[in-house]
Amino acid sequence: MTRVVVVGSGGREHALADVLSRTASDVIVTPGNPGIPGSVATPATELDADLFVIGPEVPLVDGLADELRAQGKLVFGPGADGAQLEGSKAYMKELLVAAGVPTAAHGSFTEAGPAIAFLDTMTEPFVIKTDGLAAGKGVLVTDDRAEAEAAIHEYLSGDAFGAAGSTVVIEEGLVGPEVSVFAICDGTKAVALAPAQDHKRIFDGDGGPNTGGMGAYTPLPWADPELVDTIMRNAIEPTLAELQRRGIDYRGTLFAGLMLTPSGPKMLEYNVRFGDPETQVVLPRIDSDLVQLLSEAAAGNIESTPTFSNDAVVTVVCASEGYPASARTGDLIEGIDDARDLDGVSVYAAGVKTNADGALVTGGGRVLNVVGRGPTMNDAVARAYAGVAKISWPGMQHRTDIAHQAK
Ligand code: AMP
Ligand code: GLY
Repeated sequence: MTRVVVVGSGGREHALADVLSRTASDVIVTPGNPGIPGSVATPATELDADLFVIGPEVPLVDGLADELRAQGKLVFGPGADGAQLEGSKAYMKELLVAAGVPTAAHGSFTEAGPAIAFLDTMTEPFVIKTDGLAAGKGVLVTDDRAEAEAAIHEYLSGDAFGAAGSTVVIEEGLVGPEVSVFAICDGTKAVALAPAQDHKRIFDGDGGPNTGGMGAYTPLPWADPELVDTIMRNAIEPTLAELQRRGIDYRGTLFAGLMLTPSGPKMLEYNVRFGDPETQVVLPRIDSDLVQLLSEAAAGNIESTPTFSNDAVVTVVCASEGYPASARTGDLIEGIDDARDLDGVSVYAAGVKTNADGALVTGGGRVLNVVGRGPTMNDAVARAYAGVAKISWPGMQHRTDIAHQAK
Protein backbone atom coordinates (compact mmCIF):
# COMPACT_ATOMS: atom_id res chain seq x y z
CA MET A 1 0.00 0.00 0.00
CA THR A 2 1.79 3.10 -1.17
CA ARG A 3 0.24 6.52 -1.28
CA VAL A 4 2.00 9.09 -3.48
CA VAL A 5 1.53 12.85 -3.72
CA VAL A 6 2.59 14.51 -7.00
CA VAL A 7 3.06 18.30 -6.86
CA GLY A 8 2.25 20.28 -10.01
CA SER A 9 -0.51 20.97 -12.47
CA GLY A 10 0.58 20.11 -16.01
CA GLY A 11 0.88 17.29 -18.52
CA ARG A 12 4.11 16.10 -16.89
CA GLU A 13 2.30 15.65 -13.57
CA HIS A 14 -0.58 13.86 -15.32
CA ALA A 15 1.93 11.44 -16.87
CA LEU A 16 3.74 10.99 -13.53
CA ALA A 17 0.44 10.26 -11.76
CA ASP A 18 -0.61 7.86 -14.52
CA VAL A 19 2.59 5.82 -14.43
CA LEU A 20 2.98 5.95 -10.62
CA SER A 21 -0.58 4.66 -10.26
CA ARG A 22 0.46 1.40 -11.96
CA THR A 23 2.02 0.36 -8.66
CA ALA A 24 0.86 2.92 -6.05
CA SER A 25 -2.40 2.22 -4.29
CA ASP A 26 -3.34 5.90 -4.28
CA VAL A 27 -1.98 8.92 -6.21
CA ILE A 28 -2.99 12.48 -5.34
CA VAL A 29 -1.99 15.50 -7.44
CA THR A 30 -1.78 18.97 -5.92
CA PRO A 31 -2.98 21.35 -7.19
CA GLY A 32 -3.41 19.28 -10.37
CA ASN A 33 -6.01 20.43 -12.85
CA PRO A 34 -9.59 19.47 -13.77
CA GLY A 35 -8.29 17.03 -16.40
CA ILE A 36 -6.07 15.04 -13.99
CA PRO A 37 -7.82 12.40 -11.86
CA GLY A 38 -6.99 12.66 -8.14
CA SER A 39 -6.39 16.44 -8.18
CA VAL A 40 -6.87 18.19 -4.84
CA ALA A 41 -6.47 21.84 -3.82
CA THR A 42 -4.89 20.98 -0.43
CA PRO A 43 -1.21 22.06 -0.38
CA ALA A 44 1.45 19.32 -0.21
CA THR A 45 2.54 20.46 3.26
CA GLU A 46 -0.92 19.53 4.58
CA LEU A 47 -1.05 16.10 2.94
CA ASP A 48 0.27 12.79 4.15
CA ALA A 49 1.85 10.18 1.90
CA ASP A 50 4.60 7.58 1.66
CA LEU A 51 6.31 9.51 -1.17
CA PHE A 52 6.17 13.10 -2.48
CA VAL A 53 7.25 13.78 -6.08
CA ILE A 54 7.68 17.44 -6.99
CA GLY A 55 7.11 18.14 -10.70
CA PRO A 56 7.91 21.79 -11.54
CA GLU A 57 11.05 23.86 -10.98
CA VAL A 58 9.45 26.82 -9.20
CA PRO A 59 8.46 25.00 -5.96
CA LEU A 60 11.86 23.24 -5.97
CA VAL A 61 13.74 26.54 -6.29
CA ASP A 62 11.46 27.94 -3.57
CA GLY A 63 12.45 25.15 -1.17
CA LEU A 64 9.31 22.97 -1.04
CA ALA A 65 11.42 19.80 -0.88
CA ASP A 66 13.28 21.20 2.16
CA GLU A 67 10.03 22.10 3.86
CA LEU A 68 8.53 18.64 3.31
CA ARG A 69 11.75 16.93 4.45
CA ALA A 70 11.69 19.06 7.59
CA GLN A 71 8.25 17.53 8.23
CA GLY A 72 9.82 14.08 8.00
CA LYS A 73 8.41 13.25 4.56
CA LEU A 74 10.10 11.10 1.89
CA VAL A 75 10.65 13.49 -1.04
CA PHE A 76 11.80 13.01 -4.61
CA GLY A 77 13.14 16.40 -5.72
CA PRO A 78 16.23 18.43 -4.78
CA GLY A 79 16.32 21.05 -2.05
CA ALA A 80 16.66 24.76 -2.85
CA ASP A 81 20.47 24.39 -2.86
CA GLY A 82 20.49 21.80 -5.68
CA ALA A 83 17.62 23.52 -7.50
CA GLN A 84 19.92 26.51 -8.12
CA LEU A 85 21.23 24.46 -11.05
CA GLU A 86 18.04 25.44 -12.83
CA GLY A 87 17.22 28.62 -10.88
CA SER A 88 20.38 30.35 -12.11
CA LYS A 89 22.01 29.62 -15.46
CA ALA A 90 25.11 31.52 -14.32
CA TYR A 91 25.41 29.14 -11.31
CA MET A 92 24.84 26.12 -13.56
CA LYS A 93 27.55 27.22 -15.99
CA GLU A 94 30.00 27.84 -13.16
CA LEU A 95 29.29 24.37 -11.73
CA LEU A 96 29.65 22.71 -15.15
CA VAL A 97 33.06 24.30 -15.59
CA ALA A 98 34.10 23.26 -12.05
CA ALA A 99 32.95 19.69 -12.75
CA GLY A 100 34.75 19.60 -16.12
CA VAL A 101 31.55 18.94 -18.08
CA PRO A 102 31.76 19.99 -21.75
CA THR A 103 29.46 22.97 -22.39
CA ALA A 104 29.22 26.06 -24.61
CA ALA A 105 31.67 28.89 -23.88
CA HIS A 106 29.83 31.68 -22.09
CA GLY A 107 29.87 34.93 -20.16
CA SER A 108 27.42 36.28 -17.54
CA PHE A 109 26.64 40.00 -17.39
CA THR A 110 24.59 42.51 -15.42
CA GLU A 111 25.56 45.53 -17.57
CA ALA A 112 24.93 46.11 -21.27
CA GLY A 113 28.41 47.52 -22.10
CA PRO A 114 30.48 44.44 -21.19
CA ALA A 115 27.72 42.14 -22.52
CA ILE A 116 27.88 43.76 -25.94
CA ALA A 117 31.68 43.77 -25.92
CA PHE A 118 31.49 39.99 -25.29
CA LEU A 119 28.90 39.60 -28.06
CA ASP A 120 31.44 41.22 -30.40
CA THR A 121 33.76 38.27 -29.77
CA MET A 122 31.09 35.69 -30.75
CA THR A 123 30.00 34.44 -34.16
CA GLU A 124 26.48 33.45 -35.17
CA PRO A 125 24.28 31.87 -34.07
CA PHE A 126 24.14 34.29 -31.12
CA VAL A 127 22.64 32.82 -27.95
CA ILE A 128 21.20 35.12 -25.27
CA LYS A 129 19.58 33.71 -22.10
CA THR A 130 18.01 35.05 -18.95
CA ASP A 131 19.85 33.91 -15.84
CA GLY A 132 16.60 33.22 -13.97
CA LEU A 133 13.51 31.13 -14.67
CA ALA A 134 11.44 32.15 -17.71
CA ALA A 135 9.25 29.09 -18.45
CA GLY A 136 11.52 27.96 -21.30
CA LYS A 137 11.08 31.25 -23.16
CA GLY A 138 14.09 33.24 -21.96
CA VAL A 139 16.42 31.89 -24.65
CA LEU A 140 17.06 33.66 -27.95
CA VAL A 141 19.06 31.90 -30.66
CA THR A 142 19.52 34.14 -33.69
CA ASP A 143 21.85 34.92 -36.60
CA ASP A 144 20.76 38.56 -36.44
CA ARG A 145 23.35 40.59 -34.49
CA ALA A 146 20.94 43.54 -34.04
CA GLU A 147 18.26 41.25 -32.58
CA ALA A 148 20.80 39.77 -30.15
CA GLU A 149 21.86 43.24 -29.02
CA ALA A 150 18.24 44.38 -28.63
CA ALA A 151 17.54 41.29 -26.48
CA ILE A 152 20.45 42.13 -24.17
CA HIS A 153 18.95 45.58 -23.56
CA GLU A 154 15.40 44.20 -23.12
CA TYR A 155 16.48 41.46 -20.71
CA LEU A 156 18.67 43.74 -18.57
CA SER A 157 16.05 46.51 -18.40
CA GLY A 158 13.57 44.08 -16.83
CA ASP A 159 11.03 44.85 -19.58
CA ALA A 160 11.08 41.36 -21.08
CA PHE A 161 11.46 38.98 -18.12
CA GLY A 162 11.52 41.10 -14.96
CA ALA A 163 14.13 40.09 -12.39
CA ALA A 164 14.88 36.81 -14.25
CA GLY A 165 16.68 38.90 -16.90
CA SER A 166 18.74 41.10 -14.57
CA THR A 167 21.70 38.86 -15.35
CA VAL A 168 22.10 37.70 -18.96
CA VAL A 169 24.13 34.73 -20.10
CA ILE A 170 25.66 34.92 -23.57
CA GLU A 171 26.77 31.62 -25.05
CA GLU A 172 28.69 30.18 -27.92
CA GLY A 173 26.14 28.95 -30.48
CA LEU A 174 26.29 25.17 -30.84
CA VAL A 175 24.87 23.10 -33.64
CA GLY A 176 23.69 19.51 -33.73
CA PRO A 177 20.75 17.34 -32.71
CA GLU A 178 19.50 17.73 -29.13
CA VAL A 179 18.80 15.00 -26.60
CA SER A 180 17.14 14.96 -23.22
CA VAL A 181 18.33 12.48 -20.60
CA PHE A 182 16.76 12.08 -17.16
CA ALA A 183 19.12 10.81 -14.47
CA ILE A 184 17.42 9.64 -11.29
CA CYS A 185 19.79 10.60 -8.45
CA ASP A 186 19.99 9.51 -4.80
CA GLY A 187 22.65 12.02 -3.71
CA THR A 188 25.63 9.85 -4.64
CA LYS A 189 24.49 7.53 -7.45
CA ALA A 190 22.45 8.03 -10.60
CA VAL A 191 20.60 5.79 -13.05
CA ALA A 192 19.46 6.97 -16.48
CA LEU A 193 16.04 6.66 -18.05
CA ALA A 194 15.60 6.20 -21.82
CA PRO A 195 16.65 9.26 -23.84
CA ALA A 196 14.12 11.44 -25.68
CA GLN A 197 14.10 14.36 -28.07
CA ASP A 198 12.02 17.50 -27.58
CA HIS A 199 10.94 19.98 -30.28
CA LYS A 200 11.46 23.43 -28.78
CA ARG A 201 10.31 25.75 -31.59
CA ILE A 202 6.68 26.59 -32.18
CA PHE A 203 6.51 25.87 -35.94
CA ASP A 204 7.21 22.90 -38.21
CA GLY A 205 10.78 22.62 -39.44
CA ASP A 206 12.01 24.20 -36.16
CA GLY A 207 10.81 27.68 -37.09
CA GLY A 208 9.62 30.54 -34.90
CA PRO A 209 10.34 31.27 -31.25
CA ASN A 210 11.33 28.79 -28.53
CA THR A 211 8.54 27.35 -26.39
CA GLY A 212 8.41 25.10 -23.35
CA GLY A 213 8.34 22.18 -25.85
CA MET A 214 5.90 21.27 -28.64
CA GLY A 215 6.35 17.51 -28.81
CA ALA A 216 8.74 14.69 -27.99
CA TYR A 217 9.57 11.11 -28.84
CA THR A 218 11.53 8.12 -27.60
CA PRO A 219 13.58 6.02 -28.38
CA LEU A 220 16.12 7.82 -30.59
CA PRO A 221 16.84 5.37 -33.41
CA TRP A 222 19.56 7.65 -34.82
CA ALA A 223 21.53 7.85 -31.57
CA ASP A 224 24.69 5.90 -30.77
CA PRO A 225 23.74 3.07 -28.36
CA GLU A 226 26.61 4.22 -26.12
CA LEU A 227 25.22 7.77 -25.92
CA VAL A 228 23.52 7.50 -22.55
CA ASP A 229 26.54 5.79 -20.95
CA THR A 230 28.80 8.52 -22.32
CA ILE A 231 26.52 11.22 -20.90
CA MET A 232 26.37 9.50 -17.52
CA ARG A 233 30.16 9.17 -17.37
CA ASN A 234 31.14 12.59 -18.77
CA ALA A 235 28.35 14.78 -17.43
CA ILE A 236 25.98 13.36 -14.80
CA GLU A 237 28.52 11.58 -12.59
CA PRO A 238 31.00 14.50 -12.44
CA THR A 239 28.08 16.87 -11.78
CA LEU A 240 26.78 14.75 -8.91
CA ALA A 241 30.31 14.53 -7.50
CA GLU A 242 30.70 18.32 -7.71
CA LEU A 243 27.32 18.80 -5.99
CA GLN A 244 28.49 16.46 -3.22
CA ARG A 245 31.75 18.41 -2.88
CA ARG A 246 29.60 21.48 -2.29
CA GLY A 247 27.64 19.65 0.41
CA ILE A 248 24.51 19.27 -1.73
CA ASP A 249 22.61 15.99 -1.25
CA TYR A 250 20.85 15.91 -4.61
CA ARG A 251 17.89 13.51 -4.57
CA GLY A 252 15.76 13.98 -7.64
CA THR A 253 15.96 14.14 -11.41
CA LEU A 254 18.96 15.71 -13.08
CA PHE A 255 17.61 16.42 -16.53
CA ALA A 256 20.46 16.94 -18.97
CA GLY A 257 19.67 18.86 -22.16
CA LEU A 258 22.57 18.23 -24.53
CA MET A 259 23.57 19.09 -28.05
CA LEU A 260 25.46 16.43 -29.98
CA THR A 261 28.08 18.60 -31.63
CA PRO A 262 30.77 17.41 -34.05
CA SER A 263 33.18 17.54 -31.09
CA GLY A 264 30.96 15.42 -28.81
CA PRO A 265 27.94 15.94 -26.54
CA LYS A 266 27.86 19.36 -24.88
CA MET A 267 25.56 20.36 -22.04
CA LEU A 268 23.07 23.09 -22.94
CA GLU A 269 21.37 23.10 -19.60
CA TYR A 270 20.43 21.16 -16.52
CA ASN A 271 16.92 21.12 -15.21
CA VAL A 272 16.23 19.86 -11.72
CA ARG A 273 13.01 18.04 -12.58
CA PHE A 274 11.48 15.86 -15.24
CA GLY A 275 11.10 17.53 -18.67
CA ASP A 276 7.80 18.56 -20.11
CA PRO A 277 6.83 17.07 -22.59
CA GLU A 278 9.62 14.42 -22.53
CA THR A 279 8.17 12.83 -19.38
CA GLN A 280 4.94 12.11 -21.26
CA VAL A 281 6.89 9.78 -23.60
CA VAL A 282 9.70 8.42 -21.41
CA LEU A 283 7.66 7.30 -18.39
CA PRO A 284 5.08 5.25 -20.31
CA ARG A 285 7.97 3.08 -21.61
CA ILE A 286 9.12 2.10 -18.10
CA ASP A 287 8.38 -1.58 -17.42
CA SER A 288 9.81 -1.60 -13.90
CA ASP A 289 8.28 -0.10 -10.76
CA LEU A 290 8.61 3.72 -10.84
CA VAL A 291 7.27 4.14 -7.30
CA GLN A 292 10.05 1.90 -6.01
CA LEU A 293 12.78 3.67 -8.01
CA LEU A 294 11.74 7.17 -6.93
CA SER A 295 11.27 6.02 -3.31
CA GLU A 296 14.78 4.52 -3.27
CA ALA A 297 16.24 7.74 -4.74
CA ALA A 298 14.34 9.84 -2.20
CA ALA A 299 15.69 7.63 0.59
CA GLY A 300 19.28 8.03 -0.68
CA ASN A 301 19.77 4.45 -1.84
CA ILE A 302 18.92 3.42 -5.40
CA GLU A 303 19.05 -0.37 -5.72
CA SER A 304 16.70 -1.10 -8.60
CA THR A 305 17.50 -0.70 -12.28
CA PRO A 306 14.79 0.76 -14.51
CA THR A 307 13.82 -1.32 -17.55
CA PHE A 308 12.04 -0.13 -20.67
CA SER A 309 9.66 -1.46 -23.28
CA ASN A 310 10.93 -1.38 -26.88
CA ASP A 311 7.79 0.47 -27.96
CA ALA A 312 8.03 3.90 -29.54
CA VAL A 313 6.11 6.69 -27.82
CA VAL A 314 5.38 10.12 -29.33
CA THR A 315 3.60 13.13 -27.89
CA VAL A 316 2.17 16.07 -29.79
CA VAL A 317 1.48 19.22 -27.77
CA CYS A 318 -1.77 21.00 -28.63
CA ALA A 319 -1.40 24.68 -27.76
CA SER A 320 -3.79 27.59 -27.59
CA GLU A 321 -3.97 30.46 -30.03
CA GLY A 322 -1.21 33.02 -29.55
CA TYR A 323 1.24 30.68 -27.74
CA PRO A 324 4.10 31.27 -26.91
CA ALA A 325 3.82 35.09 -26.95
CA SER A 326 0.44 34.95 -25.21
CA ALA A 327 -2.29 32.36 -24.78
CA ARG A 328 -5.99 32.79 -25.38
CA THR A 329 -7.92 30.85 -22.74
CA GLY A 330 -11.54 29.84 -22.17
CA ASP A 331 -12.06 27.96 -25.48
CA LEU A 332 -14.18 24.80 -25.22
CA ILE A 333 -12.09 21.63 -25.75
CA GLU A 334 -13.82 18.89 -27.72
CA GLY A 335 -12.92 15.31 -28.58
CA ILE A 336 -10.69 14.14 -25.69
CA ASP A 337 -12.78 11.01 -25.05
CA ASP A 338 -12.87 10.17 -28.78
CA ALA A 339 -9.08 10.43 -28.89
CA ARG A 340 -8.71 8.23 -25.78
CA ASP A 341 -10.95 5.58 -27.37
CA LEU A 342 -8.34 5.01 -30.09
CA ASP A 343 -5.93 2.12 -29.75
CA GLY A 344 -2.54 3.18 -28.35
CA VAL A 345 -3.59 6.78 -27.63
CA SER A 346 -3.64 8.59 -24.32
CA VAL A 347 -4.24 12.25 -23.57
CA TYR A 348 -2.61 14.15 -20.71
CA ALA A 349 -4.16 17.42 -19.53
CA ALA A 350 -1.79 20.39 -19.15
CA GLY A 351 -3.21 23.95 -19.39
CA VAL A 352 -6.91 23.29 -18.81
CA LYS A 353 -9.62 24.64 -16.53
CA THR A 354 -13.40 24.39 -16.29
CA ASN A 355 -15.90 27.06 -17.31
CA ALA A 356 -19.03 28.10 -15.40
CA ASP A 357 -20.89 25.07 -16.84
CA GLY A 358 -18.19 22.69 -15.62
CA ALA A 359 -16.90 21.97 -19.16
CA LEU A 360 -13.17 21.60 -19.85
CA VAL A 361 -11.75 24.71 -21.58
CA THR A 362 -8.29 25.97 -22.49
CA GLY A 363 -6.48 27.44 -19.49
CA GLY A 364 -2.92 28.05 -20.64
CA GLY A 365 -0.45 27.94 -23.51
CA ARG A 366 0.26 24.22 -23.77
CA VAL A 367 -3.18 22.69 -23.29
CA LEU A 368 -3.04 18.95 -24.01
CA ASN A 369 -0.45 16.27 -24.75
CA VAL A 370 -1.71 13.63 -27.12
CA VAL A 371 0.44 10.51 -26.76
CA GLY A 372 0.70 7.70 -29.30
CA ARG A 373 2.38 4.38 -28.54
CA GLY A 374 3.20 1.55 -30.93
CA PRO A 375 5.70 -1.10 -31.93
CA THR A 376 7.41 1.26 -34.41
CA MET A 377 7.95 5.01 -34.55
CA ASN A 378 5.68 5.23 -37.60
CA ASP A 379 2.87 3.52 -35.66
CA ALA A 380 3.36 5.80 -32.66
CA VAL A 381 3.35 8.94 -34.83
CA ALA A 382 0.26 7.81 -36.75
CA ARG A 383 -1.56 7.07 -33.48
CA ALA A 384 -0.61 10.39 -31.89
CA TYR A 385 -1.82 12.34 -34.92
CA ALA A 386 -5.01 10.25 -35.19
CA GLY A 387 -5.65 11.34 -31.60
CA VAL A 388 -4.89 14.99 -32.40
CA ALA A 389 -7.36 14.83 -35.32
CA LYS A 390 -10.19 14.04 -32.86
CA ILE A 391 -9.47 17.08 -30.70
CA SER A 392 -10.40 20.68 -31.42
CA TRP A 393 -10.96 24.15 -30.06
CA PRO A 394 -10.88 27.55 -31.78
CA GLY A 395 -7.30 28.51 -32.61
CA MET A 396 -5.72 25.17 -31.54
CA GLN A 397 -2.18 24.87 -32.89
CA HIS A 398 0.24 21.95 -33.05
CA ARG A 399 3.28 20.88 -35.04
CA THR A 400 2.72 18.32 -37.79
CA ASP A 401 6.32 17.04 -37.90
CA ILE A 402 6.98 15.61 -34.43
CA ALA A 403 9.50 12.73 -34.58
CA HIS A 404 10.26 13.36 -38.27
CA GLN A 405 13.96 12.80 -37.52
CA ALA A 406 13.16 9.28 -36.31
CA LYS A 407 11.10 7.87 -39.17
P1 AMP B 1 17.75 26.04 -22.78
O1 AMP B 1 16.48 26.46 -22.09
O2 AMP B 1 18.99 26.65 -22.21
O3 AMP B 1 17.85 24.55 -23.00
O4 AMP B 1 17.60 26.58 -24.26
C1 AMP B 1 16.45 26.33 -25.02
C2 AMP B 1 16.84 25.93 -26.41
O5 AMP B 1 17.64 26.93 -27.04
C3 AMP B 1 17.68 24.68 -26.47
O6 AMP B 1 16.89 23.52 -26.43
C4 AMP B 1 18.39 24.85 -27.80
O7 AMP B 1 17.52 24.52 -28.87
C5 AMP B 1 18.61 26.34 -27.85
N1 AMP B 1 19.94 26.65 -27.32
C6 AMP B 1 20.27 26.88 -26.03
N2 AMP B 1 21.58 27.11 -25.87
C7 AMP B 1 22.13 27.03 -27.10
C8 AMP B 1 23.47 27.15 -27.61
N3 AMP B 1 24.49 27.45 -26.81
N4 AMP B 1 23.65 26.98 -28.93
C9 AMP B 1 22.61 26.70 -29.75
N5 AMP B 1 21.33 26.57 -29.35
C10 AMP B 1 21.07 26.72 -28.03
N1 GLY C 1 11.07 20.20 -22.48
C1 GLY C 1 12.08 20.97 -21.90
C2 GLY C 1 11.83 21.33 -20.50
O1 GLY C 1 11.04 20.72 -19.82
O2 GLY C 1 12.49 22.25 -20.03
